[in-house]
Amino acid sequence: MKTVIEPFRIRMVEPIRVTTRKAREVLIREAGYNPFLLKAEDVMIDLVTDSGTSALSTRQWSGMLGADESFTGSRSFYRFQEAARSLFGHRHVIPCHQGRAAEHLIGHALLTPGSVVFANTHFSTTRANIEEAGVEAHDLPIPEALDAANPHPFKGNIDLEALNAGIRKAGPARVPFVILTVTDNSRGGQPVSMANIAGAGEICRRHGVPLLLDAARFAENAYLIKLREAGFSEMSPREIARRMFALTDGVFLSLKKDGLGNTGGVISVNSDEWAEKIRVRLLVSEGIPTAGGLAGRDLEALAAALDETLDEGYLAHRIASTSRLGTQLAESGVPVLQPFGAHAVYVDGRAFCDHLPDEQLPAWSLTVALYVSSGVRSWETGNVMQGRQDPATGRWQWPALDLLRLAIPRRVYTQSHLDYVAEAMAELHGHRHEVRGLRFVYRPPVLPQFVATFEQV
Ligand SMILES: Cc1ncc(COP(=O)(O)O)c(C=O)c1O
Repeated sequence: MKTVIEPFRIRMVEPIRVTTRKAREVLIREAGYNPFLLKAEDVMIDLVTDSGTSALSTRQWSGMLGADESFTGSRSFYRFQEAARSLFGHRHVIPCHQGRAAEHLIGHALLTPGSVVFANTHFSTTRANIEEAGVEAHDLPIPEALDAANPHPFKGNIDLEALNAGIRKAGPARVPFVILTVTDNSRGGQPVSMANIAGAGEICRRHGVPLLLDAARFAENAYLIKLREAGFSEMSPREIARRMFALTDGVFLSLKKDGLGNTGGVISVNSDEWAEKIRVRLLVSEGIPTAGGLAGRDLEALAAALDETLDEGYLAHRIASTSRLGTQLAESGVPVLQPFGAHAVYVDGRAFCDHLPDEQLPAWSLTVALYVSSGVRSWETGNVMQGRQDPATGRWQWPALDLLRLAIPRRVYTQSHLDYVAEAMAELHGHRHEVRGLRFVYRPPVLPQFVATFEQV
């Protein structure tokens, strides 16, 4: 049988409010043409993110009901610590409230101005936290990652030669660590191969530089290794994930993605010195070391999830349903980034809206048009999120890819919801030259995607 069924039953439902095109035209104008600023109840299918939006399982809920909410040393923390230690394999487990809190702690505890951090691609919040510490953040993706149509199976890989040369040129003493983002969210959710993690680890070791993973989507990366990299097809996702982590000096991650949590983050490291510095910052800004600003019930939900998320049936369904959506879009002529990753399907905004110049923000304009035509909310990782204006000349530098992202919350939408999304996108493609361009009305200097406003050109 070809159909990969949802490997769960649905026993609690949340109604979707159906809106009209006319109403949505008003709503998006009132939101300054920024889908992020819409009220969620005005969205019919919300693919703005896969972060913090997972449906919880019966096992997670039963853990939450029995949670220990003691101020310090709660049973729920020790359960979380055990689950995290047995997966990540490092000595120190430091919880915090989400991914960017982990980045903030690392930035403040471990970085000094004038340093340089290399990554396959820094996620936007990671970059913001590193740059805020007065540190340069350099992306070193492989060249294939810059071509939306290139079928390379591991477009999340870091360019190993460029990494080696970069560390040499900067001087290893100026490089506090190297980051691999798995999967590479900002470049299409593409996975990083085990060989690439090992290669980066080898280069780092040679130079005495620690290697960290930003592992928000570690389970999806592990499963894509199983499917695409020779020698892993017989291993379980958990064994693969553990092998990935064993090649590192530490990991930090948002637990709102593959951690199947509505909130949560964690840092896991071996170094006693690092752990001590991070815990000092934690006490100042997040909470106590046995909670990190999380409730006992959050820690229970996360402890259960670190096992559940590596379930092979769950991952097989997730990858199959994402690639089904991607294939439907490709078959109807929508220019999609290939190969498909796991958490999202990405549409090439420039190719879709080839009548719009970069200044008119093609992928962002497309997110607005998709919302108006169908009530589907999507997101951009492109010109708005990554475009930079030269302060001296005022000239814009645009990123290599300007993408619309359809991020799929875990265990929330069924196949028919995603069929509706595919139909909506295909219909819009038929009228693509009617998509109106946008320009900035307000653009803040940091993380513009969350608060910027726009007007139609
Ligand atoms: C790769 C990656 N790193 C870090 C973050 C930040 O995590 P959070 O949203 O929990 O702060 C995200 C969020 O989308 C992400 O995708």
